[in-house]
Amino acid sequence: MSQSLTIPRPDDWHLHLRDGAVLRAVLPETARHFGRAIIMPNLVPPVVTGKDAAAYRDRIMAALPEGITFEPLMTLYLTEETDPNDVAAAHQNGLIRAVKLYPAGATTNSASGVRDFEKVRGVLDTMAEIGLTLCVHGEVTDAEIDIFDREAVFIDRVLDPLRRATPGLRVVMEHITTSNGVDYVKAHDAGLGATITTHHLVINRNHLLVGGIRPHYYCLPVAKREEHRLALRAAATSGDARFFLGTDSAPHTDPNKESDCGCAGCFTATNTLSILAEVFEQEGALPRLAGFASKHGPAFYGLPVNTETITLTKGDPVSYPQKIDTEDGPVTVFDPQMLLHWDVSQ
Ligand code: DOR
Ligand code: ZN
Repeated sequence: MSQSLTIPRPDDWHLHLRDGAVLRAVLPETARHFGRAIIMPNLVPPVVTGKDAAAYRDRIMAALPEGITFEPLMTLYLTEETDPNDVAAAHQNGLIRAVKLYPAGATTNSASGVRDFEKVRGVLDTMAEIGLTLCVHGEVTDAEIDIFDREAVFIDRVLDPLRRATPGLRVVMEHITTSNGVDYVKAHDAGLGATITTHHLVINRNHLLVGGIRPHYYCLPVAKREEHRLALRAAATSGDARFFLGTDSAPHTDPNKESDCGCAGCFTATNTLSILAEVFEQEGALPRLAGFASKHGPAFYGLPVNTETITLTKGDPVSYPQKIDTEDGPVTVFDPQMLLHWDVSQ
């Protein structure tokens, strides 16, 4: 008899869809299984104003294959010039669900991000007043800080002071990669949550660097030591509602990954749910998958849980394509280096 698990249709609380040819190719990969996703605004140029977000949402909806339902939850990219009134208006008319903070220089297309946090004080105060979430890329960018320490240092030097200075601000620590991130979330309740990616539950820094450099495992924040991966797995599978799925599925074409200076990002949209089922089963936590993938995120964002369901069925290993073709070139699908036994059906 096959084992099966039916859960509310999941959502992805951190997703890169890009634009143009890549958007058209990767959107169906997410929309096949997910009901909604928080859409990252780090396009070139970034999605900065409400007007930008409305236009980007229209391009996403135009790229959605006929007959598929999917709701993009839009975000604005916080810059030192962001107008608090524009943010408040975009929130009030239901256009955006969050604002994204990239420290300038932290990652892909983050050059327009924040250098001087005093310059965004007005926006943060407005967001705290209106209950709008700040999604934070939590890494310092100082040259003297080791890349493997950048998340832990960010928590102490930037995040904690920022939260103290803005009482009531709702914050999601995006794609946490360390036990420091897990511990910080656990120690502070009201209005603080964290997303965890699929790939950080599977790989540590050895996967990236042992036996040859593996560009498709390079992402930011970079995967850390095994003890951190284990802390993330424990948090994700714990049932604690402050932790929820944000895949950070981040497509780059193969030439842009496999290069002298390869881009950061793991593309996991295609096989994420099969991988998560495997991980939760390994941890003896299958009954808690629905919380992590389908319930905790809506609760944090004050949205209803999706009424549709998906069913995961265990059987012979499932195969997924190694690459997704786009008109700009192939995008490699994340290889979890394990057999996946859980098939997803609607
Ligand atoms: O690995 C990453 N890729 N991390 C980020 O923060 C950005 C993302 C991207 O846009 O490619
Ligand atoms: Zn991201």
